[in-house]
Amino acid sequence: MAAHDAIDVIRAKRDGVELSPEQIRWVVDAYTRGAVPDEQMSALLMAVFFRGMAAGELAAWTQAMIDSGERKDLSSLGRPTADKHSTGGVGDKITLPLAPLVAACGVAVPQLSGRGLGHTGGTLDKLEAIPGWRADVHEEAYLAQLRDVGAVICAAGHDLAPADKLLYALRDVTGTVESIPLIASSIMSKKIAEGADALVLDVKTGSGAFMKDAEASRELARTMVGLGEAAGVRTVALVTAMDRPLGRAAGNAVEVAESVEVLAGGGPDDVVELTLALAREMLTGVGRDDVDPAEALQDGRAMDVWRRMITAQGGDPDAPLPRPAETHVVTAPATGTLTRLDAYSLGVAAWRLGAGRARKEDPVQAAAGIVWTAGVGERVTAGQPLLELQTDDADRIPRALAALEGAVGVDTDDEPLPLVLDRITAGS
Ligand code: URA
Repeated sequence: MAAHDAIDVIRAKRDGVELSPEQIRWVVDAYTRGAVPDEQMSALLMAVFFRGMAAGELAAWTQAMIDSGERKDLSSLGRPTADKHSTGGVGDKITLPLAPLVAACGVAVPQLSGRGLGHTGGTLDKLEAIPGWRADVHEEAYLAQLRDVGAVICAAGHDLAPADKLLYALRDVTGTVESIPLIASSIMSKKIAEGADALVLDVKTGSGAFMKDAEASRELARTMVGLGEAAGVRTVALVTAMDRPLGRAAGNAVEVAESVEVLAGGGPDDVVELTLALAREMLTGVGRDDVDPAEALQDGRAMDVWRRMITAQGGDPDAPLPRPAETHVVTAPATGTLTRLDAYSLGVAAWRLGAGRARKEDPVQAAAGIVWTAGVGERVTAGQPLLELQTDDADRIPRALAALEGAVGVDTDDEPLPLVLDRITAGS
């Protein structure tokens, strides 16, 4: 690869000149190898933040990130593969019931997941609440589990878009996270490298989401769908509500418990509805729209796959989940209809109770979280228990309560978003 001068690349982007695919390939590769230092990449990221990227630049940037590692080949499974990615929210445990559900419908689900950072929870942190369950699965065991069980939810290995690991850490400390091309390339490089035939994106919008604004969420969705399709992955996005949290629980063990309820054929309506909507999209993406996932949820097939999936990774699906040492109840402030249950506030409160981490290396508490007895749109009575805060550490409760200031509204004029706001496909 011909060498370029990092300063020329930075200046060009700063001045609004489109970068060539060669310049992009070089700079991403050189940064990953350590030949371009953090200060130069920081300047380039900031220039991208302000100038954006043209479609061709974004495609080249994403491809360079994929090429920094391995693009997996899952064709030996002899079965269609589909995955979903959520941009992250509060109470968003959908991956837990969704992966075994879609596997129960005959489609393999290779789900490489992350940990929570900040107010949004992480799938791996939630599953680690199950005694014995391990997030690390080696390559051979990963393929064997996909073949035998049909679903794996595990940590991504080091060979999956390593450029993203470096770039994401740098963006985190340089104020360059909230950029549509940088978010889209970060997510899609990993998802394309994962090797699934079809991908469904759950792009959240509202206070608890990365993108608070619906139009920005649609733009992110369109950008990611374009990248997926260009890479040969059938990609569709649903833009979904994150003005309030999903279901009735946010945290780690509490979200596992709620997911198991859904797999047992019960659970909160919004979690069931979104799980089924995403499952239908995944099945459609691989041409299996003849299969009805609702049946697999009701007749116990999805639960069977869940139990096998947890057991294959060392977990005991029958073991009692950890319980918190301390609880604190918050009551409904008035009688009427619950019109506001703010996702961001609940996410921050759950995080402060110990469910999430402030730094990547921090541990999380398996038993920490919040459960609530009523969702938006339901009637509540003044003084009824509404939220239960759960933690192992009573000292955390006052700060969690401070985060909940103004989070609950009864008969206010808040207009909750529809659960699914939009469906974005390649042509839309
Ligand atoms: N998730 C990612 O993986 N990357 C981003 O940039 C934002 C969210």
